[in-house]
Amino acid sequence: MLDQKTIEIIKSTVPVLEVHGEQITTVFYKTMFENHPELLNIFNHANQKQGKQQRALAGTVYAAAKYIDNLEAILPVVNQIAHKHRSLGILPEHYPIVGKHLLIAIKEVLGDAATDEIINAWADAYGVIADAFISVEAEMYDAAANQKGGWDGFRPFIVGNKVEESEVITSFYLKPVDGKEIAAFKPGQYISVKLEIEGEDFTHIRQYSLSDAPGKSYYRISVKKEAGLETPDGKVSNYLHSSVEEGEVLQISAPAGDFFLDTEKVTPVVLISGGVGLTPMVSMLNTVADLQPEKEVTFIHAAQNGKVHALKDEVASTAAKAKVNSVVFYDQPTEEDRENSSFDVEGYITKEWLKENVDIAQSDFYFCGPVPFMKAINAALKDLGVTDDRIHFEFFGPMASLEV
Ligand code: HEM
Repeated sequence: MLDQKTIEIIKSTVPVLEVHGEQITTVFYKTMFENHPELLNIFNHANQKQGKQQRALAGTVYAAAKYIDNLEAILPVVNQIAHKHRSLGILPEHYPIVGKHLLIAIKEVLGDAATDEIINAWADAYGVIADAFISVEAEMYDAAANQKGGWDGFRPFIVGNKVEESEVITSFYLKPVDGKEIAAFKPGQYISVKLEIEGEDFTHIRQYSLSDAPGKSYYRISVKKEAGLETPDGKVSNYLHSSVEEGEVLQISAPAGDFFLDTEKVTPVVLISGGVGLTPMVSMLNTVADLQPEKEVTFIHAAQNGKVHALKDEVASTAAKAKVNSVVFYDQPTEEDRENSSFDVEGYITKEWLKENVDIAQSDFYFCGPVPFMKAINAALKDLGVTDDRIHFEFFGPMASLEV
């Protein structure tokens, strides 16, 4: 445990570090990768370039520091990050490397203001925070490896089918090379895919939501082709689209993530997605249809138009089997969409529409999509009085804030 003096120093220096947050973490990453280039095999280079990971890590270290004498208060956040760390293969021996370079960066940015007393206090605090992550992650490693069909680290999977779902989204059906059982997962969870791309010095790891229900002999991911190679997902997603064919082997880590459908609850559920955010929602939808066909589900999907609308037939046939009301929003429908009446509502999902069409008082709401879409949905639900315990969402990419 930290002594009172150390806690006071930490709490009083958090605001200073917050001001310099991004500068410190930028120096931190630069120095750490210079000294440990092997870590570039696990970090997402594009996130570094965009500064997103800087913000996510800085934010969390300071949030943790604010609660240094009561880390339980941020346990949900620790849990969520630990899922991602476990899925990436982050190990206890990595923590001292991060700690050392964080302190080097604090010293470099704060200069003389970073006295020995302050640096020592932060070294102690980082140790406490790191221990919290390490112990949560140790349990997750055990659970992933010891569950039925589970495994440790990365396991080779062969691409069975590669199916084009829309102009921009393609599904990959993945079966284990060893032909043995695969771990069950919760609908909404993701896997990490580790890729070696020809001509690249380092491996790339990305997370993709599982897009079908659990209990099958395969995992399915449905991947969006990105416009630019330098977006966080562009490089790997585009490589999957253009160069990974049926029969190829991918390295996959066991399912992870704390965003999943509560299949115990019997109250109505509303699944809302924008674009490729539909992948975890389809997994949830297919699971409800398998396990709880009596549950009332509203499946709302927003896409630009029919050309980029993935998994349309699958959702329609699942909806027909169970108690599902499926509603499609297009904000830029094509003439063909109009002729085929392939959408229900033109425009965006609004607060007014939700109020009229879903059971606001009883439902649990799950949503995923682009950040502006998620901000709008979150604000609408809050305005309609939906309580936090019934709002569930996931970001693709580093965590961000939904405040508007
Ligand atoms: C992701 C915090 C230690 C490697 C993240 C995220 C946060 C975070 C907030 C983003 C989570 C998300 O996207 O949902 C922390 C904190 C740490 C810590 C507070 C120390 C107490 C480490 C260590 C390593 C590591 C020791 C390995 C050397 C990663 C990687 C990602 C990640 C590779 C994925 C994002 C990317 O590739 O850019 N961490 N982390 N982290 N963390 Fe950590």
